[in-house]
Amino acid sequence: ATSRSDAFVFFGATGDLAKKQTWPALLALTKTGRLDMPIVTVGRHDIGVDEIRAEAKKSLEDTKSFDAAAFAQMSKRLSYVAVNYDDATTFDGITKAASAAQHPLNYVALPPQLFEKVAADLAKAGLAKGGRLVVEKPFGHDVASARALSAKLHAAFPEDSLFRMDHYLGKEQVENIVFFRAANRLFESTWNHEHIAAIEITMAESFGIEDRAEFYDSVGTIRDVVQNHLLEVMAYLAMELPTARGHTALRDARTKFLTHVKALGPDDVVRGQVRGYRDVRGVANDSTTETFASLRFAVDSPRWRGVPFYVRTGKSLAVTMTEAMVRWKRVGHPVLEDNAAPPANALRFRIGPDNFIALATNVKAPGEAMRGDSSELSLCRPATGMKAYERLLGDAIDGDASMFARQDTVEEAWRIVDGALAAKTPVYPYDKGSWGPQEASRLAPKGGWTNAR
Ligand code: BG6
Repeated sequence: ATSRSDAFVFFGATGDLAKKQTWPALLALTKTGRLDMPIVTVGRHDIGVDEIRAEAKKSLEDTKSFDAAAFAQMSKRLSYVAVNYDDATTFDGITKAASAAQHPLNYVALPPQLFEKVAADLAKAGLAKGGRLVVEKPFGHDVASARALSAKLHAAFPEDSLFRMDHYLGKEQVENIVFFRAANRLFESTWNHEHIAAIEITMAESFGIEDRAEFYDSVGTIRDVVQNHLLEVMAYLAMELPTARGHTALRDARTKFLTHVKALGPDDVVRGQVRGYRDVRGVANDSTTETFASLRFAVDSPRWRGVPFYVRTGKSLAVTMTEAMVRWKRVGHPVLEDNAAPPANALRFRIGPDNFIALATNVKAPGEAMRGDSSELSLCRPATGMKAYERLLGDAIDGDASMFARQDTVEEAWRIVDGALAAKTPVYPYDKGSWGPQEASRLAPKGGWTNAR
């Protein structure tokens, strides 16, 4: 049986991700009683635990997730250890603060260059044996580096204690794609190249990179969200549904799907960079990092042969909205006026910021003509479930890695995008508040993208 973690070791507690995601998740886990263990925050600065408490409180207030009673409880469990990444012996302070934990959960929200070093030093300090390592993406920067990184980390943390975080996997709305497919008999028989014209995924963000310039400029949009989040969404939409229950079967099905996705070439991507990006502090003034990408994927499987999969995503776009659309083919019928093909049926999976599934169908317009309009039937459900970070960190505490990215999945995803990255295609400028550069229309679905409602 897997043992529950008995200490939470937190690297990067003052970072941007901690502010937005980790502290709210830790507070939620404290509320439900799942984080009943020492929380050891670790950093380079010579500060005290009170500064960490203040930082955590501010983050919780900023994200409107503060709760005085739970915060008081969490505060009591907090400690801070200052380390020097050039001196492994400073990690002994963590061991002490974790009060001889047998199964520490080491959560590392640090720049990826530090993963290897931190893992090795944790092992020296006795925090790897029986422990777990959670790392934030990006996991490597191409297939070779991802493989090398896994090999290095495995020296201290074997695959079953290595948790690669992709928070999209923890989203209720993403899991619902699989549920919806499995639970509604209606769609599965037409869920293939004979009936489906295209699959379209949009992840638009109206905000920029704010204070994440240093991280972002060395990564770019494709590595930041396509290689992980959006390929996982694509896999849930298009994979063969597993024939068994449980998360291993789901992980296998996702990975299997990715093996059928063809590696991208230079013609399958249009990259963009928002005007003004190079003036952001921390960004190189000749940076060619993309803040927008439009991509077209092809899937070489009997189910999907010939069906294009379109993905577009970027920063500083017109709206903040993530959704996936499954679009059927348009067909006419002799019964209809002029045998005209009405608008296509489509299923819209809205993943964020709101959460709904909508089905576009055609209904007759009043009058004598056999004509109609397309209208969307909306299946709404307010997102009241656990947030992704709470769910995933809770799973990691329990030792359940099933909602985390596995090594083979991560490597398949890199295989797919590596070609597009290596090609160093032009980066076209675009205006803030737009839908990306004009040039991206080359990779738009036939008839154009369906913009946000
Ligand atoms: C993160 C990316 O993984 O996901 C960010 O690094 C992005 O750039 C974020 O903004 C989006 O997450 P969500 O849950 O708000 O869609």
